[in-house]
Amino acid sequence: MNQVDITVLYRLVKEFCEHDTTGHDWWHVHRVTQLAIHLANHEGADVLLVEPAALVHDTDDWKLKGGEGYPNATAMLKATGYNGKQIADILGIVEQVSYKGAGVDTTPCNLEAMVVQDADRLDAIGAIGIARAFAYGGSKHRPMYLPHLEPQLHETFEEYKTAQGHTINHFYEKLLLLKDRMNTVTAKALAEERHRFMEFFLEQFYREWSFRP
Ligand code: ADP
Ligand code: NI
Repeated sequence: MNQVDITVLYRLVKEFCEHDTTGHDWWHVHRVTQLAIHLANHEGADVLLVEPAALVHDTDDWKLKGGEGYPNATAMLKATGYNGKQIADILGIVEQVSYKGAGVDTTPCNLEAMVVQDADRLDAIGAIGIARAFAYGGSKHRPMYLPHLEPQLHETFEEYKTAQGHTINHFYEKLLLLKDRMNTVTAKALAEERHRFMEFFLEQFYREWSFRP
């Protein structure tokens, strides 16, 4: 039996994403991992796979590094003591997590991936989701809002990936759609309040934007 020490993975992932300023920092990973463990316990998913998958879910993300495969996650999982079969199972979860555009079906095919995807998506909505969207938009030099551009939804991953919109559009192409795309009942319930807060935020944003003396 191989010896796994999950505290090693916590340390490696923390070091890896400590200096991120795009909303994918250690605290995002930490919140997602806590949420994923909570959802796994409520939904009966395997925490021994969910916890490491949540920890490495963004270490090879297309938005952050480009390139194929999971070299960063693989190296960290190996150093933690996972064997080849376990690494394949964990990466099998990670590859199902990411959002790929309004018109692209990304429903996971196992409970563990559903739970990690839900946790990641809960951290993309609500007050923290709003903060992360503007942090990410700023890091990509995107304008906050361009009032003459209509909301755009994307039918393919390619369109979504290459879109050059403003950050308010991210609410329409992704954030406001997530509540109805949660996989588990536990996450759906948690999403309600976060969703309402984003609607309230947008209402107030437009009210302030269109203020005329
Ligand atoms: P996913 O893999 O589903 O994209 P991540 O954990 O990588 O999830 O985080 C995605 C987050 O990054 C979004 O919820 C948002 O906060 C930010 N983000 C990604 N694309 C954009 C964008 N075009 N505009 C603003 N924020 C974005
Ligand atoms: Ni994430």
